[in-house]
Amino acid sequence: MNEDPDVASRRIARESIDRDDPTGWFEHLYAAAAEGAAVVPWDRGTAHQLLTDWVNESKPDGTDKTALVVGAGTGWDAELVADRGYDTTAFDISPTAIATAHRNHPDSRAHYIVADLLAPPTDWHRAFDLVVEIYTVQALPIHLQPNAIKQVTDLVGPGGTLLVIAAARPDDQPDDEIQGPPWPLTRATIRSFTAPDLHLIQLDRAPSPTDPTILRWRAEYLRD
Ligand SMILES: C[S@@+](CC[C@H](N)C(=O)[O-])C[C@H]1O[C@@H](n2cnc3c(N)ncnc32)[C@H](O)[C@@H]1O
Repeated sequence: MNEDPDVASRRIARESIDRDDPTGWFEHLYAAAAEGAAVVPWDRGTAHQLLTDWVNESKPDGTDKTALVVGAGTGWDAELVADRGYDTTAFDISPTAIATAHRNHPDSRAHYIVADLLAPPTDWHRAFDLVVEIYTVQALPIHLQPNAIKQVTDLVGPGGTLLVIAAARPDDQPDDEIQGPPWPLTRATIRSFTAPDLHLIQLDRAPSPTDPTILRWRAEYLRD
């Protein structure tokens, strides 16, 4: 009997994490999904609602500006950013995710590439006017999150904006109670996407548009 795709997705993640390969499962999952043997639970077929809300409220003009979408998956968020006029780069660690993004958006103006947030290209350092991070840090085990957060913040250029969307959890919930993935972010963690010259300027915590029992952070930061 074929395995249920949802069950297969969780099994693929757990097997990889138990092998101490905390990022390998993304490629396994996207590859299995491309063959119809699993589902990618976060692949919404549209931009994230909280990113759409931010774009509608802020109306950013990306003319002559650059944007980077972190852990871009199959590209739906990157397309929204590119549509605002940004010269958009979108990256993911999974080659199959990037191949699927190319297939989903054949006429895209965004540049889709395979790269690792934990070892990004050096010329990305402080290079982008807008950095969008949705659900990538929370998809990494908690011991990897500080380095991932540091890497995200290092990508934001002078005068640039960082937008982070993540699942929220209470500050007093112990790390070892979380059976990730995902490993939702505490308020302290969301506040740590900062530096002396990178400031948290807006923080909202709201129920998920699709499941009101889950709370989501939407955080905006600005670099001097
Ligand atoms: C939970 S998914 C979220 C995808 C997308 N941001 C969204 O909201 O639909 C996490 C994504 O981050 C990618 N990813 C995980 N670790 C990564 C890393 N170290 N570097 C780049 N991408 C990574 C995964 O392949 C996956 O596409």
